[in-house]
Amino acid sequence: MEVLKLENVSKHFKTKIEDIKVLDNINLVVNKGDLISIQGKSGSGKTTLLNILGLLDTNFQGKIMLEGNKIESIGFVFQFHHLLPEFTAIENVALPLLRIDKNKKEVFKKAEKLLELVGLEDRKNFYPNELSGGQKQRVAIARAMINDPKVILADEPTGNLDEENSKIINDLFLKINKEENKAIIIVTHSIELANIAKRKYILKNASLHEI
Ligand SMILES: Nc1ncnc2c1ncn2[C@@H]1O[C@H](COP(=O)(O)OP(=O)(O)OP(=O)(O)O)[C@@H](O)[C@H]1O
Ligand SMILES: [Mg+2]
Repeated sequence: MEVLKLENVSKHFKTKIEDIKVLDNINLVVNKGDLISIQGKSGSGKTTLLNILGLLDTNFQGKIMLEGNKIESIGFVFQFHHLLPEFTAIENVALPLLRIDKNKKEVFKKAEKLLELVGLEDRKNFYPNELSGGQKQRVAIARAMINDPKVILADEPTGNLDEENSKIINDLFLKINKEENKAIIIVTHSIELANIAKRKYILKNASLHEI
């Protein structure tokens, strides 16, 4: 089943000096349970592509189709965790759902389950500045899952982590993909992380090439 699809997507950035074509006629079909990686040099357009896939950027040519048309069906994990410093781990995980579901008790129960899934139930009441980089990223992954997304998009999720923490995150993505059957698209410079994917792409000269 298709959950997300790009059809002939192109993107230009017009500056005063030049018109840069960052994406040229990109086609991509994401099916339920897919595990996809996208590599590419710095500046090749990976974040631009992910922002379009995540509906954060709607200013492009071409078409995007999202199954069910619900923005909640996309979860985002960024290079920098973007956790809110004034909230605890469990509150950070719960927040995106609390905005839609007012049953606080149920929402927190679910957030706790997700923290268990990422192995951080013992850190649920810690604030982001009391967590290590790897732990923060695991909280961010739990948060990306709170609205039961069909697709998780991750932009350089291990970019700031050492080898050991990167391995934990890699295994976590594999587990979420397998056990929760979520489609995951990971943009990464890490060969190890790219290699966990079943479908691998490289973004080069504004085009997406399967490798
Ligand atoms: N708002 C903008 N205005 C003009 N050009 C932009 C803008 N945002 C991005 N670009 C250009 O688009 C190209 C792609 O940027 P993008 O951030 O998608 O690259 P990336 O592949 O994610 O790189 P990195 O690996 O360094 O994160 C770059 O050349 C960049 O200068
Ligand atoms: Mg980027």
